[in-house]
Amino acid sequence: PEALRAIAQRKGLRFGNAIGATRFQDPAYRALMARECNVMVAENETKWQAVQARPGKFTFAPADRMFSWARSQGMAVRGHTLVWQPAKWLPRWVNEHDFGAQPVREAERLLREHIATVCRHFGKDIYSYDVVNEAIEPATGGLRRNVFTERLGAVEQIDLAFRIAREHAPHAQLVYNDYMRWDAGSAKHRAGVLELLRALKARGTPVHALGLQSHIGSWDESAPAGADAMTEWRRFLDEATGMGLDLLITEFDVNDRKLPADAALRDAGVAALARDYLDVTLSYPRTRDLVLWGMADHASWLQSWDEAPRLDGLPMRPTPYSAQLQAKPLRA
Ligand code: XIL
Repeated sequence: PEALRAIAQRKGLRFGNAIGATRFQDPAYRALMARECNVMVAENETKWQAVQARPGKFTFAPADRMFSWARSQGMAVRGHTLVWQPAKWLPRWVNEHDFGAQPVREAERLLREHIATVCRHFGKDIYSYDVVNEAIEPATGGLRRNVFTERLGAVEQIDLAFRIAREHAPHAQLVYNDYMRWDAGSAKHRAGVLELLRALKARGTPVHALGLQSHIGSWDESAPAGADAMTEWRRFLDEATGMGLDLLITEFDVNDRKLPADAALRDAGVAALARDYLDVTLSYPRTRDLVLWGMADHASWLQSWDEAPRLDGLPMRPTPYSAQLQAKPLRA
């Protein structure tokens, strides 16, 4: 069958996948990526925790190995993520850091050192960064707090992160990335994201695009998609693109937690949910990238994510390829 990257290219899209260092050791999976993708993302290896696990000590070797292979295969690379806002995803040393007598300056120094070092290291090898990931509290639509927002103010800190990225990666597309969805349960999340983006635009923050994580599926009762359920999603995308932002699907997968046990039925259900979502989201000419968060079932983070497992204990089937690397209906 025609490579997904070729199909995507005809529609003016890039097509890619996220891969972790362990999976990267698997030649069959790497070959699948090489055939299908023209974009790679490191699933964990460019996160703060991986890159600067200890203060001032930077580790780039795992990401460098993956990215040099990606380049040799003609793939472009996205950076994920310069700052992941929830405190639980910042390294413990950052959360426990002594900000001293000049906490504002110290917070700014830490942010600047991290972002500048990462951006300078990768240079033009990374064409697009998730600068800030998950800044909005889904339940309230308010801004999440962490050690940086406490010292700098939340909008101010996010603005600063984008400005530092702009300074040290002036060529790169700078993205705000989050996991709001189309359903009613996500209404506050969507509103909060739009409010943040408006505030950034009003300040002249160099934010170029909105990353739609797109972990879609049926893990709760709110999930079923269908055309009607997409009305609010269109409204959301209209608002974002109306601000002049491009869109990217940055972490696509389909949670099949609540779909029937039968594998064939489940794969059909996953494909149907994906179609509803992708038909709408890819219909926006400003959507430029479609990136999967795992492209074969055994490689998906959902196999071990504590909110994902099926009640019947069966392995999840959230991606276009089976664990045996056979194409499933989602791939067709
Ligand atoms: C996930 C990885 O896939 C896991 O391996 C890791 O343990 C936790 O993070 N949203 C994001 C990604 O922005 O960084 C997350 O990746 C998945 C949800």
